Amino acid sequence: MIQTIVSKVQAIARDVLLIELQATNGQLLPGAAPGAHIDLHLPNGQIRQYSLTNAQGHPKQSSYQIAVARDAHSRGGSDWIHDKLRTGATLTISEPRNLFALNTTAHDKVLFVGAGIGITPIYAMVKSAKQSAMDWSLMACARSASRMAFQEELIALDADRVRFHFDQERGGPLDINALLSSAPWDAVYACGPAGLLDAIEAATAGWPDSAVRMERFKAQAQDDSGNTTFELVLSRSGQSIQVGVSETPLEALERMGIDHPFSCREGLCGTCEVQLVEGQPDHRDNVLDAEERTAGQRFIPCVSRCGGDRLVFNL
Ligand code: FES
Repeated sequence: MIQTIVSKVQAIARDVLLIELQATNGQLLPGAAPGAHIDLHLPNGQIRQYSLTNAQGHPKQSSYQIAVARDAHSRGGSDWIHDKLRTGATLTISEPRNLFALNTTAHDKVLFVGAGIGITPIYAMVKSAKQSAMDWSLMACARSASRMAFQEELIALDADRVRFHFDQERGGPLDINALLSSAPWDAVYACGPAGLLDAIEAATAGWPDSAVRMERFKAQAQDDSGNTTFELVLSRSGQSIQVGVSETPLEALERMGIDHPFSCREGLCGTCEVQLVEGQPDHRDNVLDAEERTAGQRFIPCVSRCGGDRLVFNL
């Protein structure tokens, strides 16, 4: 954990605040690469993940910047930040973690799509892409121009490579299929609301897994009707427990009295990850990619389940 002080709170678009954090001890912070996020431990007990907009892959950095949109369906996190967080306040945060890393050498022609507050990791990525040999383009979307964070900064970055789509001006959402077929893209990196990412996922179904990278900020709805009970075994301690149909493996660990780390409890942040020793996983998270799932060694116990009758964790 890192203790920070809020060094800046600035409205940068309608219902969007830019928050800057610096270490309270005056030291530099651990560096982070584009796509990285931090957990904010809010005084109201909530833990929320926010992408860094100023993560450029340096070993250390003097501050972390995040952008927070007021969420109409806020469960308290974004409302608290907008209503209560002020310059000079102290906040406990996690070290940066990156589940949405940008590979600047694997692909030549890359499309970035950032919609709504999903522009935050994408903004960090395009700043990096500009320094690389990548032939990149950005489609930045928002309901209206007034809600578009970093609009001026993006234009200043490279006006020829950045396009905007504002739903209210265009009379509807972006046509994903038209965008994806507008050029021979080698890869797409996207962050935004579920509907947009679902459309990209459907339109790129035939693409190689490594060519489609997305980060969701809300978990996809799960169908739990087929859930079955299974045995959870801990290889190091030899303890075991039955995981109920309406219980997650993480909750079963907690029922055993194990103080296992967690943050989002929605399969988004990766904090609760465990190493799988044995068993058939039923992955339901947004953390692991297709390759990692096939390897079968990583498991996200706050949402994922068992495809058989027994899982063994390296705990
Ligand atoms: S607690 Fe965030 S992925 Fe499990």
